[in-house]
Amino acid sequence: MEESTAPAVSYGLRGRTFLVTGGSRGLGYAVTRLLAAEGASVAICGRDSEALARAASSVEEDFGGTVVTGSVDVLAPDELEDFTVESAARLGGFDGLVANIGGKRGGGLLESTREDWQATWELNGGHAVRAVRSALEAFRPGSSVVLVSSISGWKPRFPAQYGAAKASEIYLAGALCQELAPYRVRVNTVSPGSILLPGKSWDRLRQRDPEAYAAYAARNPNGRLLNAEEVARVIAFLLSPASEAVNGAHIPVDGGQPQAGLGAGPAVSERTGM
Ligand SMILES: NC(=O)c1ccc[n+]([C@@H]2O[C@H](COP(=O)([O-])OP(=O)(O)OC[C@H]3O[C@@H](n4cnc5c(N)ncnc54)[C@H](OP(=O)(O)O)[C@@H]3O)[C@@H](O)[C@H]2O)c1
Repeated sequence: MEESTAPAVSYGLRGRTFLVTGGSRGLGYAVTRLLAAEGASVAICGRDSEALARAASSVEEDFGGTVVTGSVDVLAPDELEDFTVESAARLGGFDGLVANIGGKRGGGLLESTREDWQATWELNGGHAVRAVRSALEAFRPGSSVVLVSSISGWKPRFPAQYGAAKASEIYLAGALCQELAPYRVRVNTVSPGSILLPGKSWDRLRQRDPEAYAAYAARNPNGRLLNAEEVARVIAFLLSPASEAVNGAHIPVDGGQPQAGLGAGPAVSERTGM
């Protein structure tokens, strides 16, 4: 994957506790590792309990600390809410939350169903709202919420249900930061650009058509796609007291991809080979 060359930075998160939804792999796993490396304890959830157990033991082995796991499908009623409450009790409350789970269902407007649109909302903005609401009583004053949106949330692209659900997260940060001000809870959104992750669409394109991948990577201002660690660092900053003045903000973390005229990526047909 793309190597990070950034020097180590301390975010001052030692002894703090966080919930990261979808912390078993991808960006959520990178955030979990960074928080644990800082000396924080983390609760993570996802559907695959074996992947969660592997992630937790690897993080605990590398950094110590506590990683609480819970097998949760955010499309199933109450599982996310139950895990949020149980993990808050186990960690003694939260200093913040990263609503990282995301995804899409269905294709274009004429192919996708009402269920696809509802599920896509639940996977993104919907789960974020439910996580924040169920964690609210557990947040200590000064807590910070980060919603993981996407470049697709403000650079419209196919399929519309994904971008619309991601745009909702940008909106939610602005609206919820006002509503949660009395609790002294901040809410911000990060919008990653294209991240190169093992086994995911960019990696598959790289394996299948290295030239197409290299051409796309070269069009990015820094000549490559993002790695998960550099997005995780911005999230850690937003969770930290160093970002106390940042609230209700939308922060693109895309290496300047849109300024180079790139949206969320090449056309779907190029990415999937369909
Ligand atoms: N990758 C990119 O290039 C990119 C770019 C822009 C924005 N983003 C956004 O960044 C976030 C993370 O993306 P990623 O690529 O790292 O995702 P990922 O590799 O697909 O990982 C997603 C995590 O969420 C969990 N998850 C997925 N569906 C779930 C469900 N129904 N219930 C509970 N857990 C579920 C997964 O575990 P299980 O599968 O075991 O459930 C996994 O831990 C998403 O919000 C995504 O939209 C990603």
